[in-house]
Amino acid sequence: MPILGIDYETCIICHNCIKACGGALFLEFEKEKIEFQDPKNQCILCGHCIARCPEDAILYEDIGESYTFEDVNNPENILSYQNLLKFVQAHRSIRHYKKDKVPTDLLEKVVATMSYAPTASNMKTQSIRIISNPEEIKMLSDAVQEEFFKNSSLKETYGQRFSDLAKEFDAPIFYDAPHVILVYSSLDLEFESNNIANLITYGRLAAQTLGLGTCWNGWTQIAMELNPKIMKIAKIRGKKVGVITLGYPDVKFYRTAPRKLRKVKGLN
Ligand SMILES: Cc1cc2nc3c(=O)[nH]c(=O)nc-3n(C[C@H](O)[C@H](O)[C@H](O)COP(=O)(O)O)c2cc1C
Repeated sequence: MPILGIDYETCIICHNCIKACGGALFLEFEKEKIEFQDPKNQCILCGHCIARCPEDAILYEDIGESYTFEDVNNPENILSYQNLLKFVQAHRSIRHYKKDKVPTDLLEKVVATMSYAPTASNMKTQSIRIISNPEEIKMLSDAVQEEFFKNSSLKETYGQRFSDLAKEFDAPIFYDAPHVILVYSSLDLEFESNNIANLITYGRLAAQTLGLGTCWNGWTQIAMELNPKIMKIAKIRGKKVGVITLGYPDVKFYRTAPRKLRKVKGLN
């Protein structure tokens, strides 16, 4: 059990863990001791007990590390709304990449950030594969394109676009990006597509902080859903998948793309 219990040398019985816990059971014994129990296996390992303990007294293993830093409790001091807004306004889908591979330490940073994405019931059922071999990327691109051409309505919609891209790129589906990242899950859980989307979005935003560009690749998702054998070409076994390209952008933007604000009911 990853939550092992409580370090009674440091526990000050403030009850924060009890109040923070959404699933399992923290019992208070004779006002001197708090005990963690999980008879119904309801702990979702959300870590809120760890995050809320002022004394770092919760004992745990195998669920990653907990960090403390300035403003961990005041995230609004870490990033202002103004900077966040500019950052997302400047976020673009990148469809032109430099040939350079992304160094491993940067790839690690992108996928590490994905691990902080929230998932339903805190399920960590997603896996990640990075494809960096151009031949493998081309093989996958060919398979996706072939799947689209087999389907008359997809061919009608995308045939011309793919043919045009093929004039410019060896692996047109992926715009010759040096890396393709697949986030996938072998389980068909409720919300798994949302979970995968969250991981991808966190990774894409992290990539942007590192000077990297990405583009979501729904085409590969469509092809894999139509023909799960394409997953084998990508060497993954999944029920749900999300795909992005990644690399150094070879394109310059001079301004943001215009965006219509969504209609909102309920403001004032
Ligand atoms: C779920 C999803 C799937 C997408 N699939 C593709 C795709 O297959 N190919 C592509 O070139 N762009 C794809 N995009 C990129 C969108 O076209 C793009 O986000 C949109 O045009 C807005 O542009 P921006 O991302 O630069 O703001 C996808 C985006 C999302 C969110």
